[in-house]
Order: sequence, then C-alpha cells, then structure tokens
Amino acid sequence: CPALPDGFDFTDPDIYQDRVPLPEFALLRETAPVSWIRQPRGVAGFDDEGYWAVTRHADVKEVSTRPELYSSNLNTAVIRFAAHMNREQIDIQKLIMLNMDPPEHTRVRQIVQRGFTPRAVRALETALRERATRIVQSAREDGSGDFVTDIAVELPLQAIAELIGVPQQDRSRIFDWSNKMVAYDDPEYAITEEVGTRSAAELVSYAMTMAQARKECPARYAGDDIVSRLVAAEGEGNLSADEFGFFVILLAVAGNETTRNAISHGMHAFLTHPGQWELFRTQRPATAAEEIVRWATPVVSFQRTATRDTELGGARITAGDRVGLFYSSANNDPEVFADPGTFDITRDPNPHLGFGGGGPHFCLGKSLAVLEIDLIFQAVADLAPGIRLAGPAPRRLRSAWINGIKELRVDYR
Ligand code: HEM
Repeated sequence: CPALPDGFDFTDPDIYQDRVPLPEFALLRETAPVSWIRQPRGVAGFDDEGYWAVTRHADVKEVSTRPELYSSNLNTAVIRFAAHMNREQIDIQKLIMLNMDPPEHTRVRQIVQRGFTPRAVRALETALRERATRIVQSAREDGSGDFVTDIAVELPLQAIAELIGVPQQDRSRIFDWSNKMVAYDDPEYAITEEVGTRSAAELVSYAMTMAQARKECPARYAGDDIVSRLVAAEGEGNLSADEFGFFVILLAVAGNETTRNAISHGMHAFLTHPGQWELFRTQRPATAAEEIVRWATPVVSFQRTATRDTELGGARITAGDRVGLFYSSANNDPEVFADPGTFDITRDPNPHLGFGGGGPHFCLGKSLAVLEIDLIFQAVADLAPGIRLAGPAPRRLRSAWINGIKELRVDYR
C-alpha cells in the first residue's frame, strides 16, 4: 500500500519550487482522502502540530458550505501565513471578511456585494478592454520579454484601481503597496516583514481616507462609485471607514496574485498546447477562462478550523483541528473531471473549485477575474497571435499558497 514519504507536508513551500504535488494529492484521494499531516515544526502562535488535508472535490465542497462546523474565524486564511505573523497581526486578520463567520460575515458580504453585481462588473468592461489592448500592444513593441511582468501583472492591478476609483496619479503608489504587501516565502523578493506590514498599513490608511471623504461630504462625489455605494449610503448597511480599509486590503491580496497567476499559467498552457491556442485564436470559446482557472488553480488551499467533533471522508475530526482545503487536488479529481490532466478549453460543464467550494466565502471577484482573463487572451490573440516560448521553463514562485509563475520568457512576434 503506497504511502506519502515520511514528513511530507503540503504546506512546505520547498515542495512547490518545481511543481504542484499532484501525484501526492492523487495518492491521498485514492487511499486516505482526509489525512492528518504532521507539521513537525508546528505553526507559530498555535499549539497544534498539523492539519487535515482534504483532497476530494466532494469533501472540499462539504467543508466550504458548512461554516457552522468549519469556521474561518479561528485562524488566518492560509496555513503557513500564521508562521510569519505576530499576535497583533493575527487579530487584524480577523477583521478581514475572509476570516469572518456568519452573522458578521453575512452583514459585510451583503454590503460589498453591491460593488460586484453583474452590472457593476460590466461597467468596467470597456475600460478594461482598452487597458488590455494597450498592455499587449506595448509588450509587442519590445519584440520579446517576460510575459509575467509585461502583461499578467498589470491588468489585475488596474482592475482593482478602476473598481474602487483610484485616481490615475495615485495608482503607482497603490500598486507598489499591493505588490509589497504579499510577503512571500520566496527569498528572491527580499521583502521583509516590516516592509510588508508598512505597505499594508499605508494602503489601509489611503483607503480609509477615501471612505472618510465620502462620509463627510457625499455631495462632492457622483454617488455611483463603489466607495460611495459601500460607505456613504444613508442609514444601516454601510461599511465603517475602518471596514472599508480592511476590505481594500483584501481586494489587493485576493484580486492580484490570483488573477496574475491564472493569466501566466493560462499563457504557459496555451504555449505548450498549440492546438488549444489555435482553437482559442479561431473560435474564442467562452468556456476558456474557467478551464484556465481549473488548470492553474492559483490558490492551492485555504483552511478552516473545526468548531466541534465531526466526521469527514472517514476521518474523525476533533473540535479545534485545522482543516486544509486543497483546491489543487479537488480540481484534478477524476471522480468529477474526465481526463483532469488534459487542458481542454471547451470543457463544459466545468465545476472546478478554483474560486472556492461554493459556501459563503465563494470568491466575490469571480466575474471580474473571468472577464480579465478573457480580455487579456482576446488581446493577445488579436495582437500577438504568433506568440511563442523564448526561453527555459518558467520560473516558479516559492509558495505553498499561491501556484505562481515569476517569469515566463516569450517572443511576441
Ligand atoms: C475569495 C480565488 C480573483 C476577491 C476567494 C477564495 C478563493 C478565491 C479560492 C476563497 C473561497 C472560499 O473560501 O470558499 C480566486 C481566484 C481568482 C480570484 C483563483 C482569479 C483567478 C479575485 C478578484 C477579486 C477577488 C479579481 C476582487 C477584485 C475575493 C474576495 C474574497 C475572495 C473579496 C473573499 C470573499 C469572502 O470572504 O466572502 N477567491 N479569486 N478574487 N476573492 Fe477571489
């Protein structure tokens, strides 16, 4: 009976330097789909020594949709993030909606959802289409380059700035803070915890100032921008300036790295599957963006904490245990996906869990992300249809949380 190598830990960033551990996930799905994984070093601030790895599609959905049994509040969203945080930072994390449980979560979610209605997202389409075109045009002028920095990084940042109405002259500051905030395990970025924390504080204070200005003088603003809609409406159902600040932090974390890596992995998948690129160029199937997200699964996992003793996939879980939802594994579950190892942009239906397992925390920005992915590949197909790989294998991000690509050398002509 095959077993995981001794000490194998799905939250160890070293494992992700070359690959996502898909064979190990497959082994668990087949032999022990909910498995206790020991973390010999533990996690700073917590006295437990491991977590349950949930690897099957059905079980990830089950945990995601039962917030009363699996809390988001008792811990930070990401298993290893806690190791980098002190108590104070963990307390701040709890103010972010991703880490809230109902009913607090329900209240905030109902308010912020107003900024993400299909109409609100459609309203961004023209501006984002123009941006996507300009980004690809300017990359093409250089002839060749790094697809990640030339193309994948820019649109997600612009989309969030557009969404919350950051004036042009402030955008480079916002982008700089956002990029520095996600403190990586990857030593190459050399972003110290202090710089990361300072950037987060500066972004919060910038967002709070935006919110405060609208609260004090709503008449000065058109009233139809998202900030006004979230903070300055009459009566109940508003975010406080603090809450808006934390929401913007969440957007900067949740909306950037994720979409950036979906785009980078999507491009790499197209470049290594020329038949699929040909299909996209000629037919532009509307199903492509969802398959790109399944294939990339930019968020490897999130976690929950059991609120009481329970059973899951044959395992007996004890109140207080940490439970890791491995979306990368769920999205390759052959029980749900025919030939999961095949990149097929016409896959339909495609019930992947790249945006979460369908519970109350299901990705708020899904429609925006799908739009961005679609627009960027439309622009590449229109303006650089002959794009090809121009270098060695892509360089991967050292992270157990984000399935990331740091560099992807391409020839645009
Ligand atoms: C939550 C993935 C893009 C905003 C999530 C979750 C995942 C996810 C896995 C957690 C779901 C859960 O716990 O059940 C992704 C991926 C993206 C993407 C793969 C791109 C391909 C975006 C964008 C935005 C965004 C563009 C906004 C600009 C959020 C927010 C939450 C969230 C606010 C928290 C929702 C809550 O706690 O209620 N996302 N996301 N995401 N995402 Fe996304």
